[in-house]
Amino acid sequence: MNKKFIILSIIMLMPLCLAQDISVEKLLAYNKWSSQNQRAYLNEDEKLYRQIVFFENLQKIKEHNSNPNNTYSIHLNQFSDMTREEFAEKILMKQDLINDYMKGIGQQATHNNANNETQMNSQNHTLAASIDWRTKGAVTSVKDQGQCGSCWSFSAAALMESFNFIQNKALVNFSEQQLVDCVTPENGYPSYGCKGGWPATCLDYASKVGITTLDKYPYVAVQKNCTVTGTNNGFKLKKWIVIPNTSNDLKSALNFSPVSVLVDATNWDYYSSGIFNGCNQTNINLNHAVLAVGYDEKDNWIVKNSWSAGWGEHGYIRLAPNNTCGILSSNIQVTA
Ligand SMILES: *[C@@H]1O[C@H](CO)[C@@H](O)[C@H](O)[C@H]1NC(C)=O
Ligand SMILES: *[C@@H]1O[C@H](CO)[C@@H](O)[C@H](O)[C@H]1NC(C)=O
Ligand SMILES: *[C@@H]1O[C@H](CO)[C@@H](O)[C@H](O)[C@H]1NC(C)=O
Ligand SMILES: *[C@@H]1O[C@H](CO)[C@@H](O)[C@H](O)[C@H]1NC(C)=O
Ligand SMILES: *[C@@H]1O[C@H](CO)[C@@H](O)[C@H](O)[C@H]1NC(C)=O
Ligand SMILES: *[C@@H]1O[C@H](CO)[C@@H](O)[C@H](O)[C@H]1NC(C)=O
Ligand SMILES: *[C@@H]1O[C@H](CO)[C@@H](O)[C@H](O)[C@H]1NC(C)=O
Ligand SMILES: *[C@@H]1O[C@H](CO)[C@@H](O)[C@H](O)[C@H]1NC(C)=O
Repeated sequence: MNKKFIILSIIMLMPLCLAQDISVEKLLAYNKWSSQNQRAYLNEDEKLYRQIVFFENLQKIKEHNSNPNNTYSIHLNQFSDMTREEFAEKILMKQDLINDYMKGIGQQATHNNANNETQMNSQNHTLAASIDWRTKGAVTSVKDQGQCGSCWSFSAAALMESFNFIQNKALVNFSEQQLVDCVTPENGYPSYGCKGGWPATCLDYASKVGITTLDKYPYVAVQKNCTVTGTNNGFKLKKWIVIPNTSNDLKSALNFSPVSVLVDATNWDYYSSGIFNGCNQTNINLNHAVLAVGYDEKDNWIVKNSWSAGWGEHGYIRLAPNNTCGILSSNIQVTA
């Protein structure tokens, strides 16, 4: 960030900041937060700017949590010195990529292989009242994508990990970094490393090349050159399907295994716990990929995120029923 921008930002925020009192309590909260969240700032100007952003966010958190109508609470976390715009820029997928994909560019990759059916995966219409794949030991630990828009690789790896457990009874961490480095336009896939990408492209790739383990190809949160060659690199799926966009179809799919889902995570930054319903339902932007691992008796979706176990409910979020945050929009599942 350049200095002019920082100073400009400070000037723009000043009136807001002066309007609220910067109490000793807030300063203590900042000091505590910054000792828990290591940050390297360019200079004193940026530090001051970050402090102002933090105070703004602290105020929002206080207001949200003091409203008893809210069904979820929010708290300070690793994103608390970022504005919502920066959070979108650094953590979520880029809007132009998403627009291209939704116009059909990304869909071509999906349809270029034989694993392209859209169907109900299960003829069993007796759906469980609730399901949670974590309780069956089918879900690996929560990961952290860092400041890299690689959510798509985490969603796909988590989907394959769970399927591998269900099929082969082995819970193994797969390599997100392999997907970030190798599922690229150079190799014929419309996914773009830390800028964003699509879980479906990872499934296409893994069905041809295989996915290796996290141990063998560790995550570094930047895109590197692909170091995998050949077509026999660990787990290889045979078939995957697109889930239709109704609640019943997603529930039905979840009775079979976890599901990779695209969501609008614009307002997820400070989620702490409870049933999240804070998306703008009239303006859904699918900018994040995660893994649905179940639903509860009240039809709330249980979702695994990749922002560390310190985020949300031990790394998870519960979403209100139906199409909250667009969760029904673009979903896939491995079936063989
Ligand atoms: C909570 O909801 C009720 C009913 O919709 C409303 O009258 C009240 O103003 C809300 N309270 C707050 C603090 O927003
Ligand atoms: C699925 O793929 C097969 C083989 O590539 C193709 O013949 C078929 O038309 C595709 N179906 C759809 C619905 O895209
Ligand atoms: C159908 O679903 C019910 C409830 O989850 C389960 O008990 C039963 O085993 C399933 N049957 C088949 C054939 O999958
Ligand atoms: C997966 O990796 C994490 C570290 O990211 C580790 O804590 C966990 O034990 C691993 N799980 C399995 C099943 O190997
Ligand atoms: C990646 O590959 C390109 C082209 O083969 C090469 O120019 C570049 O130095 C490589 N980068 C790294 C970090 O190895
Ligand atoms: C939701 O999005 C619509 C359309 O962009 C916008 O008009 C509206 O103000 C937004 N609502 C909130 C609460 O931000
Ligand atoms: C949302 O889901 C609930 C419970 O599954 C259902 O009763 C309700 O009709 C749904 N609402 C909409 C708007 O689809
Ligand atoms: C669901 O999919 C149908 C086509 O299968 C489409 O017409 C509809 O707009 C979709 N609805 C949502 C909410 O995405």
